[in-house]
Amino acid sequence: MTRKLNLALLVACNTFFSPLVMAQQSVAAGPIVVQGAMPVEAERFAQRLDNPRETQIGGWRFWHGTVDGYPVVVSETLKGISNAAAATAIAATQFHPVAIINQGTAGGHDPALKVYDIVLGKYSVSLGAFKTPKKAAGEGSDSRQWQPMDLLASKGSAGEDKNAHTIRQFPADAKLLALAEGVKGSYTQGKVVEGVIGSADVWNSELDRIDYFHANYHTSVEEMETASAAQIAAAFNIPFVGIRVLSNNMTNQGKYDPQTGLACQDYVYQVVKAYIAQNAPR
Ligand code: 5AD
Repeated sequence: MTRKLNLALLVACNTFFSPLVMAQQSVAAGPIVVQGAMPVEAERFAQRLDNPRETQIGGWRFWHGTVDGYPVVVSETLKGISNAAAATAIAATQFHPVAIINQGTAGGHDPALKVYDIVLGKYSVSLGAFKTPKKAAGEGSDSRQWQPMDLLASKGSAGEDKNAHTIRQFPADAKLLALAEGVKGSYTQGKVVEGVIGSADVWNSELDRIDYFHANYHTSVEEMETASAAQIAAAFNIPFVGIRVLSNNMTNQGKYDPQTGLACQDYVYQVVKAYIAQNAPR
């Protein structure tokens, strides 16, 4: 219904109004993209779409459908930084989304968080971009001595740039974060908190290293996609939020449970419905 309306508006704009107005209308018609890395993090949402249609671009699957009449694309990003970046760039250029939500499972860095709790990422950071101190052969390696390296600080060598050693924060879109906060009451399987999501192609199981990240970069959880997708979404100026459920937390013996990925998709479904109710009233 909404899509038809927007198309009708587009045609009307094309006929009567300036190209600027037309561009605004076409942006308003873009889908919401919901990203999940693994099948267990994406297929449940895809199944909840109305009139779903599966497509594939390169190695990445997308399901196009609607929620309450508004277009939504579920994107299976596959795991890790490179996959998430590529899937986000494809979604940005092919679908021109109005919003991107990256969601899925994560490991706890905060002992106060339990398996099934959900973190709404007020920002995300890369836990994979560091410069090590110089050490001679035989002096070993201690990752807690590494300095963060902001790869977006300048166009020069990040390693030599004295100003590039604060950690880059990829902030959530304030409106998306507020919407995600707004549906907290619907979640019964754990608590929902705002926090910081750390991303890298690393699964950390060293408690001292986890504690270092938590203490120095305030990470609530770690996973392998959010900061990457956030960086690319920002480059395309697309509002973004990361929403992650704890599937494991070794800081408090929280055992891995892949079913948490389903709970996260159900939460994000409520966020998407709230977005549509607020932004695309029919
Ligand atoms: N560390 C890293 N990645 C994790 N994931 C879930 N828990 C963790 C963890 N403790 C997610 C990643 C990736 C897959 C391995 O699961 O985002 O997609």
